[in-house]
Formats: sequence, structure tokens, C-alpha cells
Amino acid sequence: MPNYDGYTVSIHYDRRLFRHDIAGSIAHARMLAKTKIISDEDAQKMIQGLEKIRVEIEDGSFPWDASLEDLHMNIESRLHHHIGATAGMLHTGRSRNDQIALDMRLYVKEAGHQTAEGLRGVQRALVALAEKYQDVLMPGYTHLQRAQPVLFAHHMLAYFQMLQRDVSRFRDCHHRLDVLPLGSGALAGVPYPTDREFLAKELGFASVSANSMDAVSDRDFVAEFLAAAALCMMHFSRLAEELVLWSSREFGFIRLDDAFTTGSSIMPQKRNPDFAELARGRTGRVYGNLMAMLTVLKGLPLTYNRDLQEDKEGIFDTVDTLLPTLEVFQGMLGGLTLDVDRVTSLASESYMLATDLADYLVGKGVPFRQAHGIMRELCEHCESSSTALGDLTIEEYRRFSEHFAEDVFQITAQSSVAARDNPGGTAPRRVAEELKQAKELLLEAGNGF
Ligand code: ARG
Repeated sequence: MPNYDGYTVSIHYDRRLFRHDIAGSIAHARMLAKTKIISDEDAQKMIQGLEKIRVEIEDGSFPWDASLEDLHMNIESRLHHHIGATAGMLHTGRSRNDQIALDMRLYVKEAGHQTAEGLRGVQRALVALAEKYQDVLMPGYTHLQRAQPVLFAHHMLAYFQMLQRDVSRFRDCHHRLDVLPLGSGALAGVPYPTDREFLAKELGFASVSANSMDAVSDRDFVAEFLAAAALCMMHFSRLAEELVLWSSREFGFIRLDDAFTTGSSIMPQKRNPDFAELARGRTGRVYGNLMAMLTVLKGLPLTYNRDLQEDKEGIFDTVDTLLPTLEVFQGMLGGLTLDVDRVTSLASESYMLATDLADYLVGKGVPFRQAHGIMRELCEHCESSSTALGDLTIEEYRRFSEHFAEDVFQITAQSSVAARDNPGGTAPRRVAEELKQAKELLLEAGNGF
């Protein structure tokens, strides 16, 4: 008969939860002693044993045994080895079901904090770029066609806002997962006079779960973290795409630092934006991990089912993708150089002032729709006669509308952005305000949510 045990084994990946698992066990031992379920002496022995195990795992001397299936059984068996029969008391009033629910919550909490820290780092880099090139104009795009001039800083701060929403999503996720599941037992609660409030305090949870059945079967917090991570990676993927475009010869807007480009093995002139491309590409696996988790949860009856063991690899992979991405972007944005002459000259291209010219006619009493039509004809005329809007004489303008006067020549990229002086607009004054608010926000938030 072949041996199929390997199928259930999770030790090769769940071992990474050892710090969380040991912290949970130490708190549990303390609680058992505090409530006199076990003696202080036995609790001390357990705690010392567990700390020894932590050191063994950290220094690589821990004898992992796949036949013991998972992290919990490996640690418990090792505790036996160190302290003998007393080890058997640690699992009093506890099940692997509430134990793993606890480990996962501790892990996701930590990951949430690390993510927030990483996001703050990228936000700081965006703010620094916005500040460095505060007055620089660039073409703003719709449909990837030059549309209207905007401030480069405005573009950078758009990403700041996206990342701010990410931070707030991870913060929401944190608040909902900040609930202690330990003390739920296998599913129904435990028949010992435990002190769950004490456990919550020891382990840093804001509250204790209200329903033991929900507590052992809930992995919403994993799905929620994965969903927040998916949106966050999507933001980085979009930014990556812009960096790829902007660093191309066709755009020529930016130069990425050498640390974030690679040469081609055959074409010596190349500086490929591999880091941005990999971030864009890795977004796919993060989406996949979210879909996998949602699918695992779908159709699971209450309460614990072994399917839940499948919650781990996806979130580990997501965290291992997301955190380095945050670091890379912080560095990549920090080392980015803007070709100010190039973006400024493109921003001043007169076609992009077509909307401003329509608005000019509105100022002369022409209804906007009509003004838009006049400008459309003007643009078509320029296109067919290969001239630019900026090269037209006043006579030519007036052939399309008698409302045009000499002051039409005062419309420039600068006047275009300055005119967009409503909250959220790209007027330098508004962007300066936006930048100030972003800096204040970062100062207040520090590295956290
Ligand atoms: N390795 C399991 C998991 O990750 C731990 C809980 C096992 N519980 C059980 N009843 N077999 O979900």
C-alpha cells in the first residue's frame, strides 16, 4: 500500500508562522496559569521550552519532521522532547482550529502594518518628485492621446491619492481582523474557565470573537487582505505601465536609474525597464491568489474544514510580491529623472489648447457646444493644411468665428493650467495646496495607517 500522507502536509510552508504560533502558545500557557487551569510552574516550563524552540527555529537547528504534518504538531512534539509530559497540558482548552485561526490573524495583522509602512515610503517618494518638479508642465493624456497640459506634480499626486486609498483599505482590513479567535476550541467553545480578555490583551487584539463557530471558520480577513493587495498591485501596475512608456525613446519623458533597468544580451543600446515590467506582470499572481481564496471559501459548510489550510500559500506569495514591489517603487521613483525640456515643450503644443480656445469663446458669449464645433473645424483645418493652432493669424481665426480677437494669443499652456483653479484642479496654486496636504498627512501618519 503506498503512503499518501504527503498530501496533507503543510509544514514546508506553514513553518513560516512559527513566531506567531509560539507567541500564541506562550499567551495561552500564561492564561492557563492565571486561571489556575494549570500550575504556574508548569506554565513556566512550557514558556521556557517554547522560547528554546523559537531559538532553534531561528538558528536553523530545529528538526522539522514532515510526518508530523504541520507547524503545530512539530512544535508540540519538540516541546515534549524538551520538557516531557508537561507539554501535553499546553493544548488544554485549545484546538488546532482556533490555533491556526489565531496564527493567521497575527500574520495578516503584521503584514498589514508592513504594507502600510511600504506604501508610506512610496507616497513619500511621490511627494518628493512632485516637489522637485513642482512647476513643470507636461501633457496630460486621455485615450493615450495628448489632451490638456497638466502639472507633472499633479500627475504624481494622483498616484499619491490612489495609494492613500490603499492605506485606508488595509486599515479597514486591520480593524475587522483585530479580533481574537483563540478560546473557540474546535468549534463550540471550551469547557474550562478560560480568560479570553486576558489572551486578547497579551496578544494585542482589540476584542474577542463573539461566536466560536464563526471564529474557527472565518477567513474573510485573508480574502479581504488579498483584495486590498490586488487593488494595490493594480495601482502599481498602472504606474509601472506609465514608467515603461515614459522611459521609451518614443516618449522620452524620464530616465530610470541604472539600478532599475537592465541591458539586453544582444542589443547594446537597450535600457529595459524590467523592474516596472515585473511589477506589472506580478499583479497577475496577486489577482490569482485572491480568486483562489474566494473559491476555497465558497461552499464551505461551518465550521473548520481542511480546505482552510489552503489559505496560506496564496497570502504568503501575495505578501512576498507586494512588499518587495513597494520597496522597488520607492527606489525607482527616488532615482527617476524627468526630462523637463521635453515634457515642457510637448505640454506647450498648441493643439492641447483647443479646449481652452473653446472656453475662450464661451467667455465671449458663445454656447459651449457651438464653441466646441468651431474649434473642431479649426482643428480639422489645421490638420489638413499642416499648420498648428499656434501658427494661425487672427484673420484665419476670425474666418471660423468673429468672436476671436487679439487676446486669443494670450492663451498658453501656463494660462491653461492656471485657469483650472477649482478644488482638485491642476492650477499651480491648487497643486501647491495638494502637495502641502499630502506632506501634512505623511507627517501625521508616520509609517503607519
Ligand atoms: N494545518 C491546519 C491548517 O492549516 C491546522 C488545523 C488543522 N486542524 C484540523 N482539524 N486538522 O488549517
